[in-house]
Amino acid sequence: MLAILGGSGLTSFAELKLERREVIRTPYGEPSGPLSFGHLHDAPIVFLPRHGYGHTIPPHNINYRANLWALSHIGAKGVIAVAAVGAIRADLHPGAVVLPDQILDYTWGRNSSYFDSTETPVTHIDFTLPFDEALRTRLRAAAKAAGKTLVDGACYACTQGPRLETAAEINRLERDGADLVGMTLMPEASLARELELPYAALAVISNHAAGRGDSRTRISMSDVGRTLETAIADVRALIISLAAQNGGAS
Ligand code: HPA
Repeated sequence: MLAILGGSGLTSFAELKLERREVIRTPYGEPSGPLSFGHLHDAPIVFLPRHGYGHTIPPHNINYRANLWALSHIGAKGVIAVAAVGAIRADLHPGAVVLPDQILDYTWGRNSSYFDSTETPVTHIDFTLPFDEALRTRLRAAAKAAGKTLVDGACYACTQGPRLETAAEINRLERDGADLVGMTLMPEASLARELELPYAALAVISNHAAGRGDSRTRISMSDVGRTLETAIADVRALIISLAAQNGGAS
């Protein structure tokens, strides 16, 4: 079973043939909401919107540990994380969907590990390649089959939010090597790795990052919402194509 972690613009998945919703209790508290179980084509899918079904949980308050633990607990074999992002790299523009391959983490104060007990040995996970290559390959194939453009390869910078960045911060992120900026893939990606849960992301560009392109002097949140609405249609098509690939087996 594949899990879809929805982001801004993807708080529901109407195409999912919904069978049941289930509240999962976790040792880490409440996930962002009940898990939605259903099928896309013949593929079993579980859906969870990380900001909650009403889009009320801001990035820094998401219980990432509970969300990932719940998905692992119910037997998800992989996670597709959908996340809105701002574009830093000059050839990336609002409306595009990107398959990131690297992460820079600027978040702080989030519960970012399951290995934080003093009663267990210190554990370090390998995180050289933060996204699962097999899932990334399947997403590329799904995009091709759906006739959708998926930009392959980008470095995602995760900021703390919920405010957007200053233009100077975006310049710094670019100097650091970031192509995209968002607020939610960390610690989500590393928690998935700690649980040995294959994890890949679809980053949906909702705006030029602060100080870039048409965001030179400000970012209009109403424009962001409109762009996201259109681009998310491509993400839905891509996920449906992924599900059609091989009955969702992973
Ligand atoms: N910055 C951070 N997160 C975001 C942005 C941005 O410009 N757009 C969508 N999520």
